[in-house]
Amino acid sequence: MAFTFQDFPVAADDLRSDVLGGLAACPKSIPPKYFYDETGCRLFEAICAQPEYALCRTERTLMASRLPDIAAAVGPLDCIVEPGAGECRKVRLLLDALHPTHLVVLDIAGAPLAAAAQTLARAYPQLAVTALGMDFLRDLEAAAPCLPPGRRLIYYPGSSIGNFPPDTATALLARFRQLAGADGHLLIGFDLKKDPLLLHAAYNDAAGITAAFNLNLLERLNRELDADFDPARFRHYAFYNPVAGRIEMHLVSLAAQTVSVAGRRFHFALGETLHTEHSYKFRRDEFSTIAGNAGWKLADEWEQEGFAVQLYG
Ligand code: AVJ
Repeated sequence: MAFTFQDFPVAADDLRSDVLGGLAACPKSIPPKYFYDETGCRLFEAICAQPEYALCRTERTLMASRLPDIAAAVGPLDCIVEPGAGECRKVRLLLDALHPTHLVVLDIAGAPLAAAAQTLARAYPQLAVTALGMDFLRDLEAAAPCLPPGRRLIYYPGSSIGNFPPDTATALLARFRQLAGADGHLLIGFDLKKDPLLLHAAYNDAAGITAAFNLNLLERLNRELDADFDPARFRHYAFYNPVAGRIEMHLVSLAAQTVSVAGRRFHFALGETLHTEHSYKFRRDEFSTIAGNAGWKLADEWEQEGFAVQLYG
């Protein structure tokens, strides 16, 4: 078993400056990557188990049923790189089918990543596992020296790419292109445009898990930035915006209130929103245009029940 963990610690300072900057802006906003503290990671797992939120389940079924096709299309491989790997659960299917010698996993939540990656290394004794605790949106290029030579596949499942507006998505995919190298591949999963009522329901589950996930951001700021948000005075509000082609998640202030964060005070008018997430939905051709702008060529694609996986070279 070969396992290494490297931490690129930054998060504390970045959280403070991103949050203070976002609260000073108009409209107020906070980047969605800050959802994922320990509770946030747990709540996201719970969202994936909600009947209304089919995204994770559909992707798993698609990957499992098309695995031989996917393996054949990818071809021989030395290394899989997964940004935002979290619990490192999704990549197991690919490891079983593609047998790379190296796996490099990246995640902003360093400690849970290290634990999951070590478990994985024990289960795959022939595999060299490298875990990088990093905000890859900031530090992706620092991963390059950790990659072995040979053919690389960047694996970016779960419609994580939907968090970024098209221009930003293109820029991120171009950085993936650099990291993958000239003969590298990208295997990416994303949610497709579909009935807006289905999309709406997925972000407004009856059990209120998505609401708890959204509001947990305020609890995190209370704890980590010495803030005094009262979550009961904010409403989880998510809707599909068909003009922009995205789910928007907001925390809408239910009262005029002043909140203190890291020693600074911010006023919320009644009805004012704190925007917390965009989740873009695509058609397959829209997405291949975005990836094409980043230098990727579509090699193959698979679709199932409103979800798509595309392979690029
Ligand atoms: C992890 C970004 C794919 O946008 O659907 C789930 C996060 N937010 N419910 C998504 C999320 C609210 C999720 N992604």
